[in-house]
Amino acid sequence: MLIKLPKASDCHESDVTPESFYLFRRSLLGGALAGIAASSLPRWASANDASRYADVEAGKAPSWFTGKLPDTKWQAVTVTGEAITPFKDATHYNNFYEFGTGKGDPATNAGSLQTEPWSVVIDGEVAKPGRYALEDFMKPYQLEERIYRLRCVEAWSMVIPWIGFPISSLLKQVEPTSKAKYIRFETLQDPKSMPGQRSSFGLIDWPYVEGLRLDEAMNPLAILAVGMYGRELPNQNGAPLRLVVPWKYGFKSVKSIVRISLVSEQPKTTWQSIAADEYGFYANVNPTVDHPRWTQARERRLPSGLFSPNVRETQMFNGYSDEVASLYTNLDLRKNY
Ligand code: MTE
Repeated sequence: MLIKLPKASDCHESDVTPESFYLFRRSLLGGALAGIAASSLPRWASANDASRYADVEAGKAPSWFTGKLPDTKWQAVTVTGEAITPFKDATHYNNFYEFGTGKGDPATNAGSLQTEPWSVVIDGEVAKPGRYALEDFMKPYQLEERIYRLRCVEAWSMVIPWIGFPISSLLKQVEPTSKAKYIRFETLQDPKSMPGQRSSFGLIDWPYVEGLRLDEAMNPLAILAVGMYGRELPNQNGAPLRLVVPWKYGFKSVKSIVRISLVSEQPKTTWQSIAADEYGFYANVNPTVDHPRWTQARERRLPSGLFSPNVRETQMFNGYSDEVASLYTNLDLRKNY
């Protein structure tokens, strides 16, 4: 995976999130995942749309999304004492190789992605396979806001307020058979709208593929996201449907998903196929296992600049150990990186 140092122009300290947006609440996990009472939220948090975050660009939300917003569980999970990354950084410093390899390329090029109509195929080891229009696919699910750390394998990180629903709810709907052991996700392949897929110099064998063990996918933290910062996902962030698995390196969180398959064998993932010695299937955030070419002990939290690099220690499982460490008790995390 490419690693690039930020240009001084990428981030400005003046973009640092105002005090009022600092999160104040412990993650409400386990039984308390049901959410927190609206009356206990600060005033800015009672709004139910993008107006709750500063400088959010308005989008063109599809009607199924705006219809669901009023029932969203806001701040169902949060991080404590860490600023939410400004919208501008989260949407202009991206990895989405289908639109180019530069951090600014997705924001520049992803306007060509047509997200309506969109359909999702569910297949493999499930009792209820099918191809669904996205608005039908989304019908059963209540949306939740999940404010998570995102730690890229390239050693930068952000804090992003996603909107989505747990993958476990999807699995309940589609009923995996007893042979299903893994879940495989596939991004759209459309060279017409995705310039990166037209490049003859690319290393990637499209489409972009990722996967999880079934018990990882069932963990309450693993979600499929359709929005962020109170609005629908911008194209460069993986509209209209992406995976978010906060305890794993960002490359697991596959964007613009068109196919979800329940499978019996561990799927071959994109980055494993390119460099298996550098990018493993598990890709759990782990400060004690370095990437062969750089340390994973620290990360640069965006916004970061030349004179204020904003470097912090990386946490085991990206700070989600209490919730996910039990998934890996019998696994050697050095071998299964
Ligand atoms: N999904 C697809 N289809 N293509 C990609 O290039 N990049 C991954 C992941 N999902 C990628 C992808 C990587 S390396 C990261 S760090 C995250 O998306 C970045 O998500 P963000 O741009 O929303 O921050």
